[in-house]
Amino acid sequence: MITASTIDRIFEASRVEEVIGEFVQLKRAGTNLKGLSPFADEKSPSFMVSPVKQIWKDFSSGKGGNAVSFLMEHEHYTYPEALRWLAKKYNIEIEETQLDEEQKQSVDERESMYVVSNYAKDYFHQNLFENEEGKSIGLTYFKERGFREETIKKFQLGFSLNQWDAFTNQALSKGYDLKYLEKTGLTIVKENRNIDRFKGRVMFPIHSMSGRVLGFGGRILDSTEKAAKYLNSPASEIYDKSKVLYGIFYAKQAIAKENNCYLVEGYTDVITLHQSGIENVVSSSGTALTPDQIRLIKRLTPNITVLYDGDAAGIRASFRGIDLILEQDLNVKVLTFPNQDDPDSYARKVSSEELKEYLTHNATDFIKFKISILMEEAENDPIKKAELVKDIIKSISVIPNSIQREIYVQETAKLMEISEGVLYSSLAQQIVSNRKQDGEQRIDEPVRMEVVQQSQLQPEDINELEKYEKEIIKTLLLFGNHKTEFIDWVEVTNTMGKLEIKKEIYENVVAQEIYLNLQDDEIEFTQDIFKNIYSILITQFNLNQNINIKHFTNHENPLIAQLASDIVLEEDKYVLSKWESRDIVVKPKETYISKQVTDIILNLRRVLIDEKIKAVMKSIKDKHPEREQIEEVLNYTRLRKLVFDKLHRVV
Ligand code: CTP
Ligand code: MN
Repeated sequence: MITASTIDRIFEASRVEEVIGEFVQLKRAGTNLKGLSPFADEKSPSFMVSPVKQIWKDFSSGKGGNAVSFLMEHEHYTYPEALRWLAKKYNIEIEETQLDEEQKQSVDERESMYVVSNYAKDYFHQNLFENEEGKSIGLTYFKERGFREETIKKFQLGFSLNQWDAFTNQALSKGYDLKYLEKTGLTIVKENRNIDRFKGRVMFPIHSMSGRVLGFGGRILDSTEKAAKYLNSPASEIYDKSKVLYGIFYAKQAIAKENNCYLVEGYTDVITLHQSGIENVVSSSGTALTPDQIRLIKRLTPNITVLYDGDAAGIRASFRGIDLILEQDLNVKVLTFPNQDDPDSYARKVSSEELKEYLTHNATDFIKFKISILMEEAENDPIKKAELVKDIIKSISVIPNSIQREIYVQETAKLMEISEGVLYSSLAQQIVSNRKQDGEQRIDEPVRMEVVQQSQLQPEDINELEKYEKEIIKTLLLFGNHKTEFIDWVEVTNTMGKLEIKKEIYENVVAQEIYLNLQDDEIEFTQDIFKNIYSILITQFNLNQNINIKHFTNHENPLIAQLASDIVLEEDKYVLSKWESRDIVVKPKETYISKQVTDIILNLRRVLIDEKIKAVMKSIKDKHPEREQIEEVLNYTRLRKLVFDKLHRVV
């Protein structure tokens, strides 16, 4: 783990405008910088960077945050990867928290394996351009396949000489340890000699999402030989084929930008499509997608289009795999190519425009596709048709989103001429049986932000609560440290012994005021994210009597960092638009602060009281109410009136 003090130093040194400047062209616009959004295709710039606040906001996609979150969004780095990138840029030495011996060794081992793999990649690549055999055999092969030189360089393709140990010897002479050559599978160590695993093959390095070389695929050149066409690196501490997708490093930005991922079978499909201008493409290397691979894609987009070569048996065999994709809540489309073509051969036959046309116009929704394929076989055969219905329902039943399921049921009913009612009841049965089947084993469900007490809250109340909860966070972040005057209305007994309402003015710090009020009522936030920030905010305030906004815009939890910078920039935008609309006498927001704070707290109370009343009413329903229940409702109603009165006086 990177130490906290290193993280601090990284944040101190990083300038968001410099970091983003490496990816986006920025121009001055007042105190801010502006540019074209890297997350959308746009003609007029809506991407803003604030050097003063060290944050960015993309108004076209709604994304925003600090330097780290930009790298996480744009480069799809994990948090530590983003920190490492920044450390490198700003020459900061990374200190790691002490690892115990075992951990240290395993980190060192993996690091050494990465280093060896990277060397091998460079060595094989160099062979293509600097070695006679490499040029005449390897490079010629790639060129004959239609790969341009820039493509070969981009994908860092290579050639392993047709000798028993050319690579191993070279690596050893450069000082690489045989242990890691063996561990990565590049060298096969036998009793009396070491052998290059990939002898005589053209080489495809396989990269991680962040671009490290994890392993290789090597293709044989001589098709008459009995050996397997492709040989892949064996599983190791750094290479697990079920967790990687070939091409993801080169495709990630395009996948996010196009909001779709093309899935193909082979290395060459990826490369040829890329060369034809389709960059959002990855390959599962000849097997069905695994859940881990699906998760990789899901970090970038919820949409996936599976590209098949023509053969029908292969298509049918893939259906089960696709259910797995549906199950992960991705939208799946499929696409086939004419006359036995695969993506690679088709892309080489047509122009890049024609290819794009073909891909956009021929993608079919998976369920519809499955129905049409199976219907051909089931025509006029009622038994087969019944089986087919079951099969389709199975596919639909794994989709987590109920609206999506409903749409599919309607679609299926139409296509298969079956009543929706029958399909729904069969779907319900299938869902029950799925649940029974996987029992309690679903531990790796994706973590979602759940609304606390969701079951008891009405949707409209959740929305209102969310609104006020956000307002509280916003007020704390922007004005938490301000001291201002507050007004309260209290019932007092006057000299005549009568109750009257008196105005009371007192001074308080905003954060203190909010904290005390919420604590008084034991108000709990319903939204996890707000609850989280609130508790950090209040802890910080209680410790230092001060709220430091940078702590939040730079927070390690990207959700918090994004929310905080959104809030800050929203406020900026408000002031800016007031200026632009010549409504220049923007009353400093601060004069409103006290009113705003009181307003939010009262409103929050109001919604919560309503909630309580509803809950009691619901428990009574058509039963005869208990005495306490009636009292409870009366009390809450009284409280509600009080809050209302106060709310109206605040105006
Ligand atoms: N594959 C493999 N081992 C094999 C055959 C195939 O690992 N013996 C994997 C490779 O990742 C390959 C993919 O399955 O890319 C698809 O196989 P295939 O269509 O045969 O290969 P292509 O990539 O189309 O290769 P080429 O066009 O060079 O024949
Ligand atoms: Mn092929």
